Amino acid sequence: MREQSMKIWDKASSSSPSTAWGSWLSAANPTLRDIHEYILIFSKGTFSRKNGNKRKNTSSKEEILELTKSVWTFPAESARKIGHPAPFPVELPYRLIQLYTYEGEVVLDPFIGSGQAAIAAVKTNRHYIGYDIDENYVKLAEKRIREFLIEFKSPKLFDFKNEESE
Ligand SMILES: C[S@@+](CC[C@H](N)C(=O)[O-])C[C@H]1O[C@@H](n2cnc3c(N)ncnc32)[C@H](O)[C@@H]1O
Repeated sequence: MREQSMKIWDKASSSSPSTAWGSWLSAANPTLRDIHEYILIFSKGTFSRKNGNKRKNTSSKEEILELTKSVWTFPAESARKIGHPAPFPVELPYRLIQLYTYEGEVVLDPFIGSGQAAIAAVKTNRHYIGYDIDENYVKLAEKRIREFLIEFKSPKLFDFKNEESE
């Protein structure tokens, strides 16, 4: 396994304003507030990905220009809203899937948690496999994926309008 590259996820806009009160406005022992996380990219064997099956890339030119930047900036997800202590925003796996996989491929998340990577896989027309050591999180992920699919597959108002005009 080789490390291919590293990205920084800048979540500044959603970082907590809290700090260690004992060192507030003092040089005594200031505690740094993390406003970023590292995303480490590894590859098995070579760095290049062959596309023998001629699968489709699904990113637009604008998306690729954004995704190939070393720093990504977008907000974190609310643990309370999702019902899991440490959910990713869907945008995180979405970006990685768009950048590193072709349409129809399989995305594995061995720590599926609330199911965000699976939702990103569905959004991008990939398959997914996910598991978690905690059965309750597997149930949460399954429920959230089901709810997402209902919304994702429902026709929208403008779909009906387009059908009428055909
Ligand atoms: C940081 S959370 C992942 C959250 C997920 N990315 C999401 O967006 O909801 C890590 C998850 O890994 C699970 N976990 C911890 N140890 C594990 C193990 N050995 N095998 C499988 N899952 C594990 C935890 O139960 C937790 O749900």
